[in-house]
Amino acid sequence: MENIYPIFDSILSLEDKEKMLKQHSLVVWLVGLSGSGKSTLATSLENALHQMGYLTQILDGDNLRSGINNNLSFTEADRIENIRRAAEVSKLFANCGVITISSLISPTQEIRDMAREIIGDRYVEVYVNCPIEVCEARDVKGLYRRARNGEIKNFTGIDSPFEAPVDPDIEIKTDMNTIEHCHNQLVEQLIGKIKFEE
Ligand code: ADX
Repeated sequence: MENIYPIFDSILSLEDKEKMLKQHSLVVWLVGLSGSGKSTLATSLENALHQMGYLTQILDGDNLRSGINNNLSFTEADRIENIRRAAEVSKLFANCGVITISSLISPTQEIRDMAREIIGDRYVEVYVNCPIEVCEARDVKGLYRRARNGEIKNFTGIDSPFEAPVDPDIEIKTDMNTIEHCHNQLVEQLIGKIKFEE
C-alpha cells in the first residue's frame, strides 16, 4: 500500500481498555438462515450482558445494510463484501474492548472463514440452527413468501445457497427449545470467556 502509514503500534493496547472495562472482548458471530432466531438471541444476549455490567454492541445484517453496506445486493460477490466490512467493523469494536454481537446470515464456509481470518482469536462462531421449513413457516418478515412468489431473487435457502457450519464453536437449535432455553445456553457458554479476573 503506497503512501499509507498505519499507526497501529502507537495506539493504546486492547489490554488497557479491557482492564478499564473489566471484561474480555469477543466477537460473537451469529450465523443462520433468515428467521432462524439470530436477532432474538442477539438482543436477549445484549440485554443480559448489559444487566451484568458489560459493554456490548450489536451489528446486525439488516442494520448494516441500511448504512455502511447500503450499496450492496445479495449476489455472492456482494455478500462477500458485506461480510468483509462487517468483520472489519466487528474487529474495530472488539479491539476497543467491546463485546460485539454480529448477526449476519453468513451463508458459506468461505465467507465465515474470511470473517474468522479478519477477526482472529476473538471470533466465536455461533450456529443458530433452525431447519428452513421452520424458518419459512415462521416467516416473520414475509420474505419467504415473497421469495417463493419470485418477488425476491437470490433468497438464502430458496435460490441462493446456505451451507451449514461444519465446526461452529457453539450451536443453538432454536426449533427444538424455548427462546429462554436457547438464551441461557448461549450465555452459559460465553460468560467464561468474557469474565475479567484482576
Ligand atoms: S448475508 O447473506 O450477506 O450475510 P445479511 O445478514 O447481511 O445477509 O442480510 C440478511 C437480511 O437481509 C435478511 O434478514 C433479510 O431481512 C434481508 N434480505 C433481503 N433480501 C434477501 C435475500 N435475497 N437473501 C437473504 N436475505 C435477504
